[in-house]
Amino acid sequence: MSTLHLTPEERALLNGAEGTGVQQAMEIVVTLGRIYGATELVPIASAHISGVSYKNLGDAGLEFLDRWADEGARSRVPAWLNPMGMEAARWREMGIPADFGEPQLEVIEAFQRMGVTPELTCTPYLLPDHIPQRGQHLAWAESSAVVFANSVLGARTNREGGPSALASAIVGRTARFGYHLDEGRRATHVVEVTCPLHSVADFGALGQIVGQRVGGCVPCFADLRQWLPLLPRDITYGGEAVDRLKTLGASLAAYGAVALFHIAGYTPEAVDAGESLLRVDARHIVVDNLKTAYEAMNDADVLDIDLVSIGCPHASLAEIVQVADLVRGRRLQTQLWVTTARRTREAAVAEGWVQSIESAGGRVVADTCTVVAPLRILGIRSVATNAAKTACYAPAHSGVHVRFGTLEQCLEAALSGRWSA
Ligand code: F3S
Repeated sequence: MSTLHLTPEERALLNGAEGTGVQQAMEIVVTLGRIYGATELVPIASAHISGVSYKNLGDAGLEFLDRWADEGARSRVPAWLNPMGMEAARWREMGIPADFGEPQLEVIEAFQRMGVTPELTCTPYLLPDHIPQRGQHLAWAESSAVVFANSVLGARTNREGGPSALASAIVGRTARFGYHLDEGRRATHVVEVTCPLHSVADFGALGQIVGQRVGGCVPCFADLRQWLPLLPRDITYGGEAVDRLKTLGASLAAYGAVALFHIAGYTPEAVDAGESLLRVDARHIVVDNLKTAYEAMNDADVLDIDLVSIGCPHASLAEIVQVADLVRGRRLQTQLWVTTARRTREAAVAEGWVQSIESAGGRVVADTCTVVAPLRILGIRSVATNAAKTACYAPAHSGVHVRFGTLEQCLEAALSGRWSA
């Protein structure tokens, strides 16, 4: 059994030198380190905290956060939040009742008292000042962001839980195990994809199939780069490569528990390590069509659509302009939400893209998403989406029926009110 070594400073935090709030955070980080056989803690560059919606936290979660803030816990590193259950500035306009909206705002205040920036997005890596660097250690909790940071950017994070990410932010460290180590990052499966992939939805469907096959392992896609343009130097705008990769990662994480994938000749560690990235016992998987995924993610009985949801993970500017181009000057027959980061929304307002979508009757919604918003309270029963992760979670989390297809199919449904195959 390995021993977790702490520096004198870490031992002091554990012994309460900076108060009970910090002590409790250190206890969480140290306990996880001991459970998973870590031998040391490692400083982190940032933390991303999930489990922020009042829908998930309830009053017990709010009290827990308030108590931690009262006990003097403060983040030592840049830290941000996953989406909550509503848009901060426009929740009344969204139809959110006060008995949800008010405690939700109290949740965010508790995080702010702990020094966490109220930036509520699952794509922090699309914001210019939040992009992790290769090799940096992080404590990120949002599963889709974890995959993107590990796989596409070459940063290092485990799939933290909300409380452990917050604890890591408070002590500025995480336990070094799993994806923080070279060994944990080697590929366990080689995936050969022999069918074409034409859209973001196709990448989500691929993630559904491979996620279910590999569970929490590390797939390496042998030949995927033929369906991906080069990754741009500046990823903050999004675009085909970024949007396909963020969707693939989100789907792998939702349908499996994937935290890291590689693409031969494309993602940074695969480019550098080549074949030596594969474990000797790596298994081989072939995906020759996406039909089963499309069938599994579509509720065939649903024709009338209440809400079309785009932006899971949160939409990039490239995705917002695509939606704007498809609906400009037309009139929608369903609700349409394009969910995104607040700063991305502001940038899209400056370009006039939000106005095009909102003039057609849609909304570009910041701070939230269709999985964490209280859809049933808003009277929504059926959702069409191009996001595999929404198709995975929305039925159970929000009690809605889902149709899954391409962006164009979804917006056709928004314009007609009905899903057409
Ligand atoms: Fe993000 Fe919500 Fe999807 S947190 S990844 S938009 S389920």
